[in-house]
Amino acid sequence: MTTDSLTVTDNRTGRSYEVPIADGAINAMALREIRTGDDDFGLVTYDPGLKNTASCRSSITYIDGDAGILRYRGYPIEQLAEHASFLEVAYLLLNGELPTADEHDAWVHDITHHTFIHENIKKFIDGFHHDAHPMGILVSTVAALSTFYPESKGTKESETRDLQIVRLIAKFPTLAAFAFRHSIGMRFAYPDNDLSFSGNFLNMMWRTTELKYEPHPVLERAMDILLILHADHEQNCSTTTMRTIGSSQADPYVAAAGAASALYGPLHGGANEAVLRMLDEIGDVSRVPDYIARAKNGDFRLMGFGHRVYKNYDPRAKIIRKLAYDVFEVTGTNPLLDIALELERIALEDEYFVSRRLYPNVDFYSGIIYQAMGFPVSMFPVLFAMGRIPGWLAHWQENVLDAEQAIVRPLQLFVGADERDYVPMAQRGA
Ligand code: ACO
Repeated sequence: MTTDSLTVTDNRTGRSYEVPIADGAINAMALREIRTGDDDFGLVTYDPGLKNTASCRSSITYIDGDAGILRYRGYPIEQLAEHASFLEVAYLLLNGELPTADEHDAWVHDITHHTFIHENIKKFIDGFHHDAHPMGILVSTVAALSTFYPESKGTKESETRDLQIVRLIAKFPTLAAFAFRHSIGMRFAYPDNDLSFSGNFLNMMWRTTELKYEPHPVLERAMDILLILHADHEQNCSTTTMRTIGSSQADPYVAAAGAASALYGPLHGGANEAVLRMLDEIGDVSRVPDYIARAKNGDFRLMGFGHRVYKNYDPRAKIIRKLAYDVFEVTGTNPLLDIALELERIALEDEYFVSRRLYPNVDFYSGIIYQAMGFPVSMFPVLFAMGRIPGWLAHWQENVLDAEQAIVRPLQLFVGADERDYVPMAQRGA
């Protein structure tokens, strides 16, 4: 007879314990019962990088990394990328269902009418050095929004939460574009409420002297698809940061600033920037084999390859690879594409990458498109963050509403010095 439980024998004491299994997991607190005596804290798990720990129940995004499947609220990413708009996807992530026509109109109207930021924010953007990285400006200004909306600390009221969600999604592109304009010394271009979410973002990025900016429809749609592909990815490093900061009931602005900081690292959302620098460094298709040999030798990692979850082709990378050709029809091709394609071809045939199941991830091709669209490399993580904000907020909201959640506070295995007496400085030697 089989039961949904795990029987564990502690060989230190000879005692056996039965631990229930639910949803393929055991409750870590059940291990606390496994003790050698009354003064024993109880058994804990050791899991650096939280590689095998589920920290929440979530119904937002499903990933099967072995099969290369990604679904938001049950809808395959391929279908959403083909048919939906970014704001529709944001609504879906936050509310669990696709919006009806009325819900969609109200949602788009709300977002469109919260795109302006307080004029004072421009003053402190001006305070940044002329070559400040736009991601640093974004992180700081998102955190600063917290000071403009002190009511946002009351995370228990649904109306308060909803308003901050709208504000964050609406103002993120404005902050992102302003950060860019500052970094190149151009005056800010204000939001245009007649345009779509992505069309308006392109307007704030690129508008110069024209009375009305008209986004190219192919690039406007490509921008929207890229945002959709980045909108959520369950419990990754930045989303976990968002949930962790939110677990102390901090407001969502500072939580989003923390999440964006986590995203900025080259092993996470900073990877698309690193991919472009890598392709630039390779410089020519003929140098690809040598570069791959050095990556295999452990000199560095091939940026844009490998993923903690996907041990198959990242489904987002497939969509982006295809999208690249639509964009290049408008912008002209990016010469780095040939290097990327050759890198992918060789790596996918190479035993080192095959045996470790290292495939291109979302960042491998996104940078090439962004560059063709005119975005500087330093804006890549900013674009990633702009796409991810609905996902962060959906997880923040889910966490706030989850009665099982508590403030995040992991344990440690202490391996430091035992108690010792203070030594006066004069007696400490050289
Ligand atoms: N190039 C070369 N070797 C690699 C790479 C790579 N990009 N990625 C992993 N490996 C190797 C490791 O050296 C290791 O080999 P070993 O078993 O011989 O020691 C093995 O593959 C497993 O690697 P881990 O680091 O254990 O895998 P993990 O799941 O912890 O790391 C990560 C995933 C961080 C994404 C990693 O693949 C990596 O550093 N990739 C490059 C950076 C990158 O593209 N990041 C973007 C991720 S997608 C995103 O965040 C949106």
